[in-house]
Amino acid sequence: MFSKIRSLIFKLDPELAHNLAIKSLKLNYFPKYKLKNNDSIKTTIFGKTIPNPVGVAAGFDKDAEVYNSLLKLGFGFVEVGTVTPFSQYGNSKPRIFRLEEDLALINRLGFNNSGSDKVYYTISKNPPSGLLGINIGPNSNSKNRIEDYLICLRKFYKLADYLTINISSPNTENLRSFHDKEELNDLLSSIEKEKTNLKTTIPIAVKISPDINDEDIEIISDLLIKYRIEAVIISNTTEKIEKI
Ligand SMILES: Cc1cc2nc3c(=O)[nH]c(=O)nc-3n(C[C@H](O)[C@H](O)[C@H](O)COP(=O)(O)O)c2cc1C
Repeated sequence: MFSKIRSLIFKLDPELAHNLAIKSLKLNYFPKYKLKNNDSIKTTIFGKTIPNPVGVAAGFDKDAEVYNSLLKLGFGFVEVGTVTPFSQYGNSKPRIFRLEEDLALINRLGFNNSGSDKVYYTISKNPPSGLLGINIGPNSNSKNRIEDYLICLRKFYKLADYLTINISSPNTENLRSFHDKEELNDLLSSIEKEKTNLKTTIPIAVKISPDINDEDIEIISDLLIKYRIEAVIISNTTEKIEKI
């Protein structure tokens, strides 16, 4: 069926196609077949058993509008976001580009989202029917980026099964400076302190860039171990565009 409508969808601007996908999932119409559970692909993650290990990455359901529809479709888990403390428009359009030959997309959205209050309200009203991760990040005009992560941690620690500290995006100026040893140490120690204050054990994942140097991998890994980070998500849009 997809092959038939693919050429039609590819005539649309990619961001419009994305928005239409969200709208149609909101209508919640699904074919009648139901995926059979298969015990061999059941997985346990963060102490919860999920039906399969294939999830939807951050960036599709940015505002937490359709995570239950995605779970119903058969995904094993969904990560919503990236959510920032306050709503923001993101970069100017066009900001998603198809690389048809490579069967890929380049994303330059820049954390467009409705902000943490709205997303909190949406999820509170519509409890997730499966494992839900919330991916958090700072606003582009933030004066204190670590505080932005903490605002989102405080907002979401009771709603999510895990939180992703997103330092991987190339589309928020200087976000990737959190890969530097000192900055990452400050960020992770602040997260750890805030978790202690909140008396929460919510699992934390850190989403890192695909563009880090080999020598930085060890430095970053040491810090992730030092702060007992439960998961690492690799990776995101690269800034190294090479013609193969
Ligand atoms: C349109 C688009 C929007 C994205 N938005 C986000 C985002 O808001 N936060 C994030 O952490 N990753 C975002 N990503 C990155 C994806 O979550 C994923 O890490 C990336 O696409 C690499 O996975 P892939 O190789 O399977 O595509 C986005 C990707 C795309 C294509």
